[in-house]
Amino acid sequence: MCGIIGFTGYLDASEVLISGLSALEYRGYDSAGIACFEDGQIAVRKSVGKVAMLADKVSGTLHSFCGIGHTRWATHGGVSEVNAHPHSCGRVTLIHNGIIENYHELAGELAATGRIPVSQTDSEIAAMLIDSLYEGNPRDAIAKAASRLEGAYAFCILFSDIPETIYCIRKGSPLVACHTEDGSLVASDMVALLRYSKDYFVLPEDQIAVLSRHGIEVTELDGTVVTPVMLHVTWDMSAAQKNGFKHYMLKEIHEQPESLRRTITPRTMRCVYRHDDGSCAEYYLPDFTADKIPDSVFQDVNRVVIAACGTAMHAGLMGRILFERLLRIPVTVSIASEFRYENPILDETTLVITVSQSGETADTLAALRLSRERGAKTLSIVNVKGSSIARESDYVLYTHAGPEIAVASTKAYTAQLAAFYLIAFRFALARGAIKAEVCASMTEQLLSTIHSVDDTLLLKNQLKDISRHLVTASNLFFIGRSLDYALSCEGSIKLKEITYIHSEAYAAGELKHGTLSLITEGIPVIALATQSDVLSKMISNVKEVRARGAMVILITKKEAVVEESLYDYRVDLPDTPDLYAPFTAAVVLQLLAYYTSSYRGLDVDQPRNLAKSVTVE
Ligand code: AGP
Repeated sequence: MCGIIGFTGYLDASEVLISGLSALEYRGYDSAGIACFEDGQIAVRKSVGKVAMLADKVSGTLHSFCGIGHTRWATHGGVSEVNAHPHSCGRVTLIHNGIIENYHELAGELAATGRIPVSQTDSEIAAMLIDSLYEGNPRDAIAKAASRLEGAYAFCILFSDIPETIYCIRKGSPLVACHTEDGSLVASDMVALLRYSKDYFVLPEDQIAVLSRHGIEVTELDGTVVTPVMLHVTWDMSAAQKNGFKHYMLKEIHEQPESLRRTITPRTMRCVYRHDDGSCAEYYLPDFTADKIPDSVFQDVNRVVIAACGTAMHAGLMGRILFERLLRIPVTVSIASEFRYENPILDETTLVITVSQSGETADTLAALRLSRERGAKTLSIVNVKGSSIARESDYVLYTHAGPEIAVASTKAYTAQLAAFYLIAFRFALARGAIKAEVCASMTEQLLSTIHSVDDTLLLKNQLKDISRHLVTASNLFFIGRSLDYALSCEGSIKLKEITYIHSEAYAAGELKHGTLSLITEGIPVIALATQSDVLSKMISNVKEVRARGAMVILITKKEAVVEESLYDYRVDLPDTPDLYAPFTAAVVLQLLAYYTSSYRGLDVDQPRNLAKSVTVE
């Protein structure tokens, strides 16, 4: 996924573009480039590496009031200056986020017109296509190109004979835009525009936005003018900055009490509940009225499918356990990239829950679209307001974690957990699977967990010390049972993606069926033992790995009785009932991964090869 920004107005365009790209760098950081109108010509500057490299190259060399900028996460073609965006052909210069799936076929056709690419990118083919169709009317050329392009795209396009003007179109990849007294701006997400405006609109798919310094005109492909729906960002610029923390990830780990409070509190209301016998009583219950999610969503289904990717999918693993425990209906969790090709069995009695921090993950969006095609009811748990997945779902439960900049998801994950807990409680109450007083008790316990998460952050020095013993590891295991197994999966991806240490999450009871052969002297095993009902079994599993020389880090609770000889390090979580331990244990695993990566001197916020949201397949 790439970062896109465009500006036309009264400010120094290269300054606006470079600062915007810096804000967007978490979306992709292999290479970067800008193209600006200067003295009636289009000047292009590109560089491999971080935006700072491009800034050095650009500083002081351009005098412009209109331009486009791009940070790349390579999909087609290696990391090189020639593959960096913007790409030009004839009178067209563009930047692109997405994947053009039929670019080989198009390249063959275009070669016949003498247009031979110099890069290995699909984006350059798009520039060549638009140029080949351009006869003086940009909208016509773009509309014709859109009818030929297959795949996902968000384009910002300059036409050399129409200065100070930017043309935009999107399909599958995000674009937001705003007009201010400084001029008109467009970007792949609001983080880059917040400095100029909190009011914006999402460019609808297959509509063309024309940005000039005087305003933005949006039209259908046939030229019909449309009025975009305006949205307002509720968070401010500081939410998207480090505010004194060394890394965004550390800041976002520490924001979890607040992000949980913002996600849970607006959905818990003291209300009068009418019992079946007609009596009434006051309870503190989950309430989705403001989210426009009626109880009927939960009453008319007999099966739930959760579809997501990465950490969001791991939140779904926890949701499945909760739902099956409380609702006693079948729940499955699908990796979204698998779901969409496994011909899933869906109908109007299925509730499909998609989970996505960005709301733009291509595979999850495709899973949602397939679910709707098959008649399933769709509810999404999303962090970015107005994102594609949010807009295309029947119902949305927003997590209010605020902007999550670090590639490794932390506060969004625990906010997704909170959403699943609230849905499970309301779902069970709506179906009569639990009584109101039980629902109220669980809801109040969820609220109390916010304080336990706060207390968990106080363990950071202990965790910092423990992580020193992981710095040189090359392989590592996470083991757990039940909720702890679901959490182990999340702990493993957190560690892998920012420390580059290979790790694997394993159901503790499964080790002896093969993987125990990999447990050798000194290999670190992080054992999650927070669930009392399986504690004795977990201790047996810890004995199995200990007997083979593993270095054991035990994450458990004060009351757990475990022989000291079984572990090297023990982390006792703050007091919470077992059901809520995933929230506090998640913070422990996040901090272990963070400090290990930090000690290894790695780029914690922007780990190699990754991007914050994968808007391509
Ligand atoms: C998690 O730390 C990763 N950044 C990644 O697995 C992420 O959760 C996944 O790509 C899904 O992103 P989304 O929540 O924006 O859909």
